[in-house]
Amino acid sequence: MDLELKGRIALVTGSSNGLGKAIALALAQEGADVIINGRNRETLNNTALEIGMKSNTNIHNCHVDATDPEGIKQFFRINNFWLKRLDILVNNVGNLEKFGNFSNLEDRDWMRSYELTFMSMVRFTREALPLLKKSPGASILNIGSLVSHQPGKFNHHYVAAKAAMLAVSKQMANEFGAFGIRVNVVCPSTIKDGGWIRNVQDRAKRMNVSPQEAEQAMEDDAKARSPLGIIGHADDVSGLIVFLASDKAKFLTGHCYNVDGGITRSAI
Ligand SMILES: NC(=O)c1ccc[n+]([C@@H]2O[C@H](COP(=O)([O-])OP(=O)(O)OC[C@H]3O[C@@H](n4cnc5c(N)ncnc54)[C@H](OP(=O)(O)O)[C@@H]3O)[C@@H](O)[C@H]2O)c1
Repeated sequence: MDLELKGRIALVTGSSNGLGKAIALALAQEGADVIINGRNRETLNNTALEIGMKSNTNIHNCHVDATDPEGIKQFFRINNFWLKRLDILVNNVGNLEKFGNFSNLEDRDWMRSYELTFMSMVRFTREALPLLKKSPGASILNIGSLVSHQPGKFNHHYVAAKAAMLAVSKQMANEFGAFGIRVNVVCPSTIKDGGWIRNVQDRAKRMNVSPQEAEQAMEDDAKARSPLGIIGHADDVSGLIVFLASDKAKFLTGHCYNVDGGITRSAI
């Protein structure tokens, strides 16, 4: 299926590595010009080069810390001579920087998680909105997590930020629909890419086992929860993002899509 993304311009936050990078590559391989984002300039340059070579589209860098409101504003201001329209915004940045249970998370951990995961989405969307309004079929994709709506046991600060993102995304779908802008949330289960290694390290520490044992246990758990008996990867998520970003999904807005191998399957 040709998703007709040629000539579209996409911005993906937190995309020099992990899931964001897979999304940026998938959009570029469908023909979109992509702006990638990250803090480390060298990694950003290398990723831009790699995606450019694999896709033959224009890849631009947004070398900005997603928790820096001024940096985000400045990016849009100084690039306004060429960035006249935006068609796709993927708010992907936002992962666990610190792991913890309710008792050992401090105020600053809650606030940091809110800044990185939730406020980055608010700030990028606010700056991008005038450009998205100029697109004939703009789409905002916010990357949530199963914990946006399914309680776990740990990392309450991250859960709160992801749940806030889901709630506000639905409000944005209501408000932005008048401008033809669609807003959807994609919620992956644990995937074996991106922050996976940090999850493994946290589990090894909590369970007092080796990283190899922790990784095996995590993989076994994930597989046991899925009726397919498999664990997801970044490209399982990026395929859906590319579809939702395209006009083929023009009737879809205000929704939350789980990419989880059936973990949250409903009983009919
Ligand atoms: N991995 C999973 O299992 C999983 C499951 C469910 C949901 N998710 C969600 O999927 C998204 C991506 O996850 P991931 O595992 O791929 O994350 P990740 O590996 O932690 O993502 C790292 C990327 O984000 C950039 N980044 C980190 N902090 C940044 C900041 N302050 N400003 C700008 N860029 C920043 C990194 O570049 P620099 O370090 O150079 O800045 C890098 O490009 C997150 O929203 C996460 O919550 C992931």
